[in-house]
Amino acid sequence: MLKTGMKRHLAAFTVLTLLSLFPFISCEKADPDNSGSGDQENTENTQQSEDNTDPGKILIVYYSYTGHCDEIVTALSSNLEKADKLRIREVEEGVDYNANNYKLGSDLINAIKKAPGQASSYPAIKSVEKKTGDYETIIVVTPLWHSQMAAIMQTYLFQNGAAMKGKNIGLVVSSASSGISGVESDAKRLIPDGKFYGPSLWINNSNRSNRQSLVKEWLEKNKIK
Ligand SMILES: Cc1cc2nc3c(=O)[nH]c(=O)nc-3n(C[C@H](O)[C@H](O)[C@H](O)COP(=O)(O)O)c2cc1C
Repeated sequence: MLKTGMKRHLAAFTVLTLLSLFPFISCEKADPDNSGSGDQENTENTQQSEDNTDPGKILIVYYSYTGHCDEIVTALSSNLEKADKLRIREVEEGVDYNANNYKLGSDLINAIKKAPGQASSYPAIKSVEKKTGDYETIIVVTPLWHSQMAAIMQTYLFQNGAAMKGKNIGLVVSSASSGISGVESDAKRLIPDGKFYGPSLWINNSNRSNRQSLVKEWLEKNKIK
């Protein structure tokens, strides 16, 4: 009799123990290796790139010293008739950045490199009227100087880049021949919370004559219209 009682207690204890373990067992099955949170991250990334496809109101902001970026902006504008344009100009007019083997341009870039967080490192620009807050998409068109973004455009973005948080950002770079990764890094430093379109558009001396079709292709690829 006593033996049967002990057996019943033992059976009840075993059942209770198994029931108490069930929630942990079922949780592990529902989310093995925390893969659930990984999926969520992927969804968020996809969402971000989908957001990037609706351009809304567009501003083309540019600087041009010898006229190449100006030509690129003409090509952009012929595809984006409703886009507004904003040309950035230095306060000091008639500066010869090419003199002494590009020394002045190089001095300006080096000053920024030395202290990128200080306003006094950037050359002065004329004040502008258009506000980036009025636009959903901003296309930055800039020359490359000494493998970096031209100093004048850096000034504009130093002053306005933080206000471009969450905006769609397109980057178009004009150089003679140098690659544009330094300019892309500058853009990301100066517009830290911008949603950049995939590859930037790089126009250089060897493809410059095709700029009209290159611009059209780039706009279509990024669904900017
Ligand atoms: C100060 C200065 C520095 C430059 N440095 C480079 C360079 O390092 N590599 C390069 O390929 N082109 C360089 N260039 C050439 C320009 O990037 C190129 O001509 C560009 O298309 C100019 O655009 P813009 O005519 O709109 O000013 C430099 C031009 C200037 C004025």
